[in-house]
Amino acid sequence: MEEQTVVLIVGAGPAGLATAACLTKLSVPYAIVEREDCSASLWRNRAYDRLKLHLAKEFCELPHMPYPEDAPTYIPKDQFVKYLDNYIEHFDIRPKYHTTIESCTYDEDRKCWFSVARAVATSVVVRYTTRFLIVASGENSEANIPVIPGLHDFAGEAIHSSRFKSGAAYSGKKVLVVGCGNSGMEIAYDLASHGANTSIVVRSPVHVMTKEIIRLGMTLVQHIPVNVVDDLLVRLANFVFGDLLSHGIVRPKIGPLGLKAETGRSAVLDVGTVGLIKKGIIKVLGNISKIKGNIVEFENGKESTFDVIVFATGYKSTANTWLKNGESMLNNAGLPRKEFPNHWKGANGLYCAGLARRGLAGIAMDAKNIANDILSSYHA
Ligand SMILES: Cc1cc2nc3c(=O)[nH]c(=O)nc-3n(C[C@H](O)[C@H](O)[C@H](O)COP(=O)(O)OP(=O)(O)OC[C@H]3O[C@@H](n4cnc5c(N)ncnc54)[C@H](O)[C@@H]3O)c2cc1C
Ligand SMILES: *[C@@H]1O[C@H](CO)[C@@H](O)[C@H](O)[C@H]1NC(C)=O
Ligand SMILES: *[C@@H]1O[C@H](CO)[C@@H](O)[C@H](O)[C@H]1NC(C)=O
Repeated sequence: MEEQTVVLIVGAGPAGLATAACLTKLSVPYAIVEREDCSASLWRNRAYDRLKLHLAKEFCELPHMPYPEDAPTYIPKDQFVKYLDNYIEHFDIRPKYHTTIESCTYDEDRKCWFSVARAVATSVVVRYTTRFLIVASGENSEANIPVIPGLHDFAGEAIHSSRFKSGAAYSGKKVLVVGCGNSGMEIAYDLASHGANTSIVVRSPVHVMTKEIIRLGMTLVQHIPVNVVDDLLVRLANFVFGDLLSHGIVRPKIGPLGLKAETGRSAVLDVGTVGLIKKGIIKVLGNISKIKGNIVEFENGKESTFDVIVFATGYKSTANTWLKNGESMLNNAGLPRKEFPNHWKGANGLYCAGLARRGLAGIAMDAKNIANDILSSYHA
């Protein structure tokens, strides 16, 4: 099958949908493909039950569609999915589902992108010829699990956080959560609340905040320098949480908003985990050195048996595996070469949406920038 259109969007998560909506607004024709059989699969199929948007709703809107007036400040997963369903309907977005992009190549002579997509169920190949190509396949395309000696022979169950739904299944089990980002901390809380004997590996410094403190910071930083705001946020957080150092949690040297801007690393928004750590209900452990059977050994020489290990160790982009001639835009890790805010545009009509580690607000900015840029050269 051959298809010719102006723009091809790879991925129907929030970034692909936002870009599709912006192109529709500007009457630019496009096609959008998605490897799963639904949009926003990360939210529908790869997120735990109790997940809510971490940031207040005013920082999580996609372009051209506000949340309903009566929506809660922190939107639960199901309500976010419903918002996306309305979004798809409103902008009449029709992703070609169950279709995986296998390669995208730029043709210098014909000045267009050739993309090969394969229907997952039938293996039928669809070839797209487009003037513009938008990578919207996400920073969370594939689970990232660290290399640990002996992990393959672990006698218990090892899963990635994307497969974790609820702690209910682990009541009475001894569970080790690896990773102390938002997912790891919340999953540890969920496990402990469901009666699992829960430990968490905290490998690196992390800012523990409340969602209200971060919301205040995101509002203030629009008027006040980031280092001043960060200083205030750290004082507030220290006041709320008290001493965390003695519980094995170290704050980074750079403040939470500065760190996010510089490295993309988010602060952890506490859902109650810290309280359980302080009570000794959740135990904080250091780095793992190796695994033997069901015994996990730590760098400090201690060891302990576990029934389950949950790796909340993040994700990686896979765009570089199928995007050929993408060097102008992406590095070897499939992430933008150029710093924000110049990350979204490569050479020859190539763009990326949602790869700058700036969440839904970043996605909204990327989508608008890309659609406007395409419109200006499309009519040129
Ligand atoms: C647990 C969690 C909580 C988060 N909470 C927030 C929050 O509260 N606020 C916020 O602003 N951000 C949040 N984020 C960050 C970010 O907003 C989300 O990850 C968001 O879903 C990213 O959207 P995306 O479209 O860029 O990527 P994705 O949602 O990952 O969508 C990309 C899509 O591309 C598809 N795809 C990939 N490769 C191919 C291919 N080769 N061919 C076809 N299709 C392909 C995938 O199947 C996927 O559906 C959170 C992230 C996680 C993991
Ligand atoms: C829970 O796990 C910790 C750490 O491995 C262990 O020291 C403790 O004895 C366990 N508690 C129970 C009640 O099994
Ligand atoms: C844990 O290991 C990582 C690298 O894998 C290292 O950067 C970090 O400093 C270690 N943390 C501790 C507490 O030893």
